[in-house]
Amino acid sequence: MPEHAIEVKSLVKRFGDFTAVDGVSFEVERGRIFGFLGANGAGKSTTIRMLCGLLDPTSGTATVGGYDIRREPERVKRAIGYMSQRFSLYEDLSVAENIRFFGGAYGLTRKAVDARLAWVLEMAGLEGRGRSLTRTLSVGWKQRLALGCAILHEPRIVFLDEPTGGVDPASRRRFWELINSLSEGGITVFVTTHYMDEAEYCNDIRLIHAGRIVAGGSPQELKTRYIKNPILEVSCDRTVEAMEILQAEPWVLETSIFGLTLHISVAGEEEGTRLVRARLAQAGIAVDRVDRIMPSLEDVFIHKIEEQAARPAAGEGGP
Ligand SMILES: Nc1ncnc2c1ncn2[C@@H]1O[C@H](COP(=O)(O)OP(=O)(O)O)[C@@H](O)[C@H]1O
Ligand SMILES: [Mg+2]
Repeated sequence: MPEHAIEVKSLVKRFGDFTAVDGVSFEVERGRIFGFLGANGAGKSTTIRMLCGLLDPTSGTATVGGYDIRREPERVKRAIGYMSQRFSLYEDLSVAENIRFFGGAYGLTRKAVDARLAWVLEMAGLEGRGRSLTRTLSVGWKQRLALGCAILHEPRIVFLDEPTGGVDPASRRRFWELINSLSEGGITVFVTTHYMDEAEYCNDIRLIHAGRIVAGGSPQELKTRYIKNPILEVSCDRTVEAMEILQAEPWVLETSIFGLTLHISVAGEEEGTRLVRARLAQAGIAVDRVDRIMPSLEDVFIHKIEEQAARPAAGEGGP
């Protein structure tokens, strides 16, 4: 067995003269939850499809479960589970028929599928619903069923492309519990999401922006490695107006709105707090409180993406 479940070196994908994935490299340790984060269009699905042996890279190499994605794509496909972004269930088939269909597609015997059927139903919380039409299920159930179908053949590595897109928070939480239990069973989970808060559930993260990896590490490492300046959380009236006023100040390095509060990055905590209070008072905006906070992963990502946006386009290096 290779040291890493997944090894990626300088992977590139161009569509015509557009570069969707621009030289990404990383390793994924076995049994970990690896989060691939980025906004829509960042290059997440394109990367996943290359790693699953479904799309040829323009250049670069990668191994998945020890198999080379260019030379042995068929072996890669058999070694992995893949849940695509649209989780391709057959809506007009029943729950059990979908499970049987995917079991057949993975080459499982009828007996083996029967043995896994009950397990999938239980995992998805669909006991007694085997005969229900898939179309009638809520998105949360469909997602759990799609996950069950993707791991029927008990792969050691699974790729989940935005598995929690479009579901309610309770279903998202439940789905992450499933991801955790897979990881506890020694399965490597490669998961993409554009929900920044979900990064907290991953052991290791890469942030991808415009086809390039711009930050990486564990959640804790990301918060301490990339954010050097204190972040102040400001609770005040007229948040949007307050943000506009503060943004114009030279001592305010970055601003963003978090729910009903403002996060601002400043050079020093005490000086910054005093200046915020004074400037907003001058504008007639009542300030409830100003507290220094631990940066959230969202703060880190906003910081990294703004940093990228501020760079000249040509000749830039890595993170
Ligand atoms: N087959 C394709 N032909 C041309 N452009 C594509 C194709 N697939 C993806 N793209 C483009 O590549 C970029 C990255 O897409 P994708 O990997 O799907 O991003 P993500 O999954 O992060 O939202 C997008 O700008 C998308 O429009
Ligand atoms: Mg995608």
